[in-house]
Amino acid sequence: MNRLNFFYEGAMAKLIGPEHGISKEELEQETKRLRPYLSRMQQTAAKADTPSAYIDERASINLPVDEERRKQVKQLARDKKRRGVECLVVIGIGGSNLGTIAVKDALLGKLYNQLPGATPKILFADTVDNDYIADLLNVVEHTLKKGKKVLLNVVTKTGTTTETVANFELFLEILRKYYPEDYADYIVITTDKNSKLWKLAEDRFDRLEIPHRVGGRYSVFSPAGLFPLAMLGLDIDKLCEGAKAMREVCLKEKISQNPAALSALIQYIQETKKGKCINVNFIFSWDLKSLGDWYRQLMGESIGKEAQKLTGERVNLGITPVVAVGSVDLHSLAQLFLAGPNDKYTSFIRVLTENKQSLKVPDHPEVDTLVEDLRGRSFSQIMEAIFGGTVAAYLENKRPSTLTLFPEKSEYTIGQWLQWKMMEMMYLGALYEVNPFDQSKVDDYKRVTIEILKTNSYAGKNPY
Ligand code: PA5
Repeated sequence: MNRLNFFYEGAMAKLIGPEHGISKEELEQETKRLRPYLSRMQQTAAKADTPSAYIDERASINLPVDEERRKQVKQLARDKKRRGVECLVVIGIGGSNLGTIAVKDALLGKLYNQLPGATPKILFADTVDNDYIADLLNVVEHTLKKGKKVLLNVVTKTGTTTETVANFELFLEILRKYYPEDYADYIVITTDKNSKLWKLAEDRFDRLEIPHRVGGRYSVFSPAGLFPLAMLGLDIDKLCEGAKAMREVCLKEKISQNPAALSALIQYIQETKKGKCINVNFIFSWDLKSLGDWYRQLMGESIGKEAQKLTGERVNLGITPVVAVGSVDLHSLAQLFLAGPNDKYTSFIRVLTENKQSLKVPDHPEVDTLVEDLRGRSFSQIMEAIFGGTVAAYLENKRPSTLTLFPEKSEYTIGQWLQWKMMEMMYLGALYEVNPFDQSKVDDYKRVTIEILKTNSYAGKNPY
């Protein structure tokens, strides 16, 4: 079988490039290995709406059906919006802000903050790069000086991430300066109930819980993502509805109808049997680029592993995730993708309808002769042609790819995609027999950073 199709409500993906397709035998063989994990996923899902909904590591799949938690998020967002918040600063890093950025960019646009009337504006403090944060502080102070309300949402699962805590201190100070009396009303803490931060915030700030077994990169449908998105006026019910619909199909026994199992199998076979150790999300939409950034973290941290889960055998495996944007990167990376080593598996992503006004190339006779047949063409038509040209080049150069089509950019379709990819990663972890929920090397760097800060010494730690 060289050609696979998986269809599901609202979106479609196709394997193209028969030369690099996957045979029926290969697929059946690996599918057998996936079955036990599929059963475990189904068992986790069956616990939704029970007190055991969040007791195992796959717990994040129960977030989209957790209406109680969502209600609490919506209530708090309503309360804060009532206070006239005009600027929201999300302080968090990695899994604690990438999902929010991805959904915000996809639905409101990358240029949202610059659009007239955009309220509240949203800023992200996710680094301790002095100059960047100094600019951010400047923007926030300018907003406060104008008498506008600023809300800080501190998002951190562990509550102890250095960058997040440093930024929290910094922005807390500025908020105190401008609202000495009621600054605490403009702070929302999103963290694990077991974290020190949760206790520290008690009786001081509003708090939202990230369930203990839900890891950062799987937390977009927890309050970590839902609260800031609700503050932006996005329909988090629709987002979770899309996720819920996808969750159902990604639990199906029949692999051809289970997009997450199928895409995990394709990725796995492409890497282990066909040498495609690089995954490229080639996204033909600027506003969806941050979905690719979110996926990069999800795949990087979930599959990049030193050892196998059960045996502890050292394997040092992983797939390197790359994001490219169409058509921008056709003028940057495509040469390498099409001519360089054939070690990449590409997931094209396209959106079928536009959300904003349709643009056309105007009739300007003076430049008309520079590129033929552009006059009067819509931008969508031009993009369609560019995409067609790209796919043709991929086929001609025997570079394997799949295509995901978004019928539109909406809360529902974005919710579907995010849920699909998180479940894909869990299945992929099962195929590689690694733990897709830990990130021991990230924890190592966090630990050494704290040591360096404590001892004020780099001794033996930094050769540069
Ligand atoms: O996916 C993960 O768990 C990590 O990338 C974390 O999200 C990231 O390290 C930030 O951690 P925390 O949310 O504890 O501040």
